[in-house]
Amino acid sequence: MGTFKAWVVEKGEAGQSLAFRDFDEADLMDGDVTVRVTHSTLNYKDGLALTGTSPVVRRFPMIPGIDFSGIVERSDHPEYKPGDAVVLTGWGVGETHLGAYAQRARVKGDWLVPLPQGLTPEQAMAIGTAGYTAMLCCMALDAHGVKPDHGPVIVTGASGGVGSVAVALLARAGWHVIASTGRDGEADYLKGLGAAEILDRAELSKPGKPLGKERWAAGIDAVGSTTLANVLAQTRADGVVAACGLAQGMDLPTSVAPFILRGVSLLGINSVTTPQPKRREAWVRLARDLDLAKLATMTNRVRLEEVGRLGEAILAGKVRGRIVVEVA
Ligand SMILES: NC(=O)c1ccc[n+]([C@@H]2O[C@H](COP(=O)([O-])OP(=O)(O)OC[C@H]3O[C@@H](n4cnc5c(N)ncnc54)[C@H](OP(=O)(O)O)[C@@H]3O)[C@@H](O)[C@H]2O)c1
Repeated sequence: MGTFKAWVVEKGEAGQSLAFRDFDEADLMDGDVTVRVTHSTLNYKDGLALTGTSPVVRRFPMIPGIDFSGIVERSDHPEYKPGDAVVLTGWGVGETHLGAYAQRARVKGDWLVPLPQGLTPEQAMAIGTAGYTAMLCCMALDAHGVKPDHGPVIVTGASGGVGSVAVALLARAGWHVIASTGRDGEADYLKGLGAAEILDRAELSKPGKPLGKERWAAGIDAVGSTTLANVLAQTRADGVVAACGLAQGMDLPTSVAPFILRGVSLLGINSVTTPQPKRREAWVRLARDLDLAKLATMTNRVRLEEVGRLGEAILAGKVRGRIVVEVA
């Protein structure tokens, strides 16, 4: 056992602090698999943990970072052996269990997914929790039976991580994708991912009517608050919206009108504790259905040392698409 480099969140009298320092492997938490982390990524929740804006970190000291890919170094788990390539998202890693912004992680083998065939460890983290959540949203729409020939689909927070992957997945599946964004300059980027129309998010972000003109058959919402309320109010009869995010706010100022007068369904998506079979299905489908050339256009890279300064940027909505953190 030795030390490795990690970002560490501490809590003192002055509040939460963040440092890039040596961490003793003996201080890792219990787990039956030790992984040499090769890649991580930056998600909205990582921004909350890095900045302390919201109390997502529940244990101190904490290594933030909610997802990683890497190579198994030691394992007492029957499914994994040294040398195996693995992916982890969720399960409280980076919140209650020491996380991914480090050269080593020790976790429960039951939390891991084998690296899906067809993806490199870097591509798996270009997808990361955000892209995997976008796939869970698409699977929820599919399971509900809504199809591209029922009408358009809206994606909110479209230039962000969940949004970018959702746009690419839905466009490839044949949907007419309406991408809602607050960023004027990202129309070409979103059209490159497959968006057919761009909608100014200002049209959705202010309080609206309980019911509006029926504009889309389905939606994937990463924003919450009045945006989600307006998305629901403008969903066609028997349409469906998958809600996964809160970039605008945690509130949902809506009425029962879309549900009882139009039969609209609201599907909640929680990626953190998704059971293994669905988790693995999502990763297999990502490897099969996501256009990797489009994934490359939405991905930027930073080194592990640089990730500490990016928390504020993602919370301010200034990160486009996905950021891979190169750890190895
Ligand atoms: N349920 C789950 O398991 C789960 C999993 C992953 C993520 N999430 C949640 O999903 C959301 C998106 O995550 P992410 O990693 O994709 O974050 P992200 O990259 O920061 O994307 C969020 C996007 O939302 C839009 N936005 C930001 N502030 C806004 C505001 N005040 N009003 C309206 N739109 C705003 C921006 O898109 P434009 O600039 O294009 O408008 C921004 O890029 C977060 O709330 C995150 O916590 C939930």
